[in-house]
Amino acid sequence: MTGWLVAYCDPSRNLGTGLAKLMGAPSIEVQSKVFPDGEGCIRIQGDLYGNKVLLVQSMYPDPDKRLLEFLLMSHKLSEEGAEVYGIVPYLAYARQHRVHNEGEVVSLGVVGHLLRSVGIKRLVTLDIHNVEGLGLIPIPCYSVSALPSLAEYLKKKYDLHEPLCISPDLGGSTRAEAFSKILQADTISLDKQRDNSSGEVVIDKKDLDVKDRDIVIVDDIIATGGTIQKAISLLKDGCCNRVIAVCTHSLLIGDALKKLESAGITEVIGTNSVPNPMSKVDILPALYSHIKTLG
Ligand code: R5P
Repeated sequence: MTGWLVAYCDPSRNLGTGLAKLMGAPSIEVQSKVFPDGEGCIRIQGDLYGNKVLLVQSMYPDPDKRLLEFLLMSHKLSEEGAEVYGIVPYLAYARQHRVHNEGEVVSLGVVGHLLRSVGIKRLVTLDIHNVEGLGLIPIPCYSVSALPSLAEYLKKKYDLHEPLCISPDLGGSTRAEAFSKILQADTISLDKQRDNSSGEVVIDKKDLDVKDRDIVIVDDIIATGGTIQKAISLLKDGCCNRVIAVCTHSLLIGDALKKLESAGITEVIGTNSVPNPMSKVDILPALYSHIKTLG
């Protein structure tokens, strides 16, 4: 694609350089430094006037820092006369798209307004937690899906026996259904409740006919691993065969991976949307397919 430039700063270097290579476009690494008091400072040099810039930044780890960096970079690029397209595979605050507990801020709405205020023309993200969240962002935005790429990886690697796709909660049922269609498998959703203060996850036991079946748990995010751990224990009680977890954003905080291994998981298949040890599936081709439609 001609006339495009890819910009990124250090934490998203792999994604930025990878995308630039796919597009055959030049790239710039934005300089980002931190003052002794902890404040960040962004510096972008060069004549950017009239350029269409794909600004790549995944907002994990350190979501607050990554968000602020992104805002500062976007502001500077817009000020210099560039057209800024935000490419944000992991969008911080996407889970706060509604009030869970009285008095909470719908933070995604605030983030959306900030994105607009720094001149971003369009936002592209990946498997946003809930598509309703897109409506809170007052600029054109689109959520690309990593599910086809994840399914392709799974199909190549496993010869699944009577596969059953499971969403750990009702909110993720559309995602699991979409995945099961690609696999041509059955699908069900569990009924997960989370205590919003303690974070404790409870999954309602229902009659699960999973005996000897290969299970594929489909989720957008694995954070502490608590959700998948609870689901595995329920499924193992039902004497299932292998349990594989596929997810777009494997944050795998702390001992999450160990937790899942002790619960008996066969494999976690994640993407490179954020840096993690389970990033087996490359999201860049899926993002690039969408970017090509931007003109
Ligand atoms: C929640 O609704 C999400 O889809 C994930 O299920 C959740 O973020 C996973 O978090 P954790 O791994 O901490 O249980």
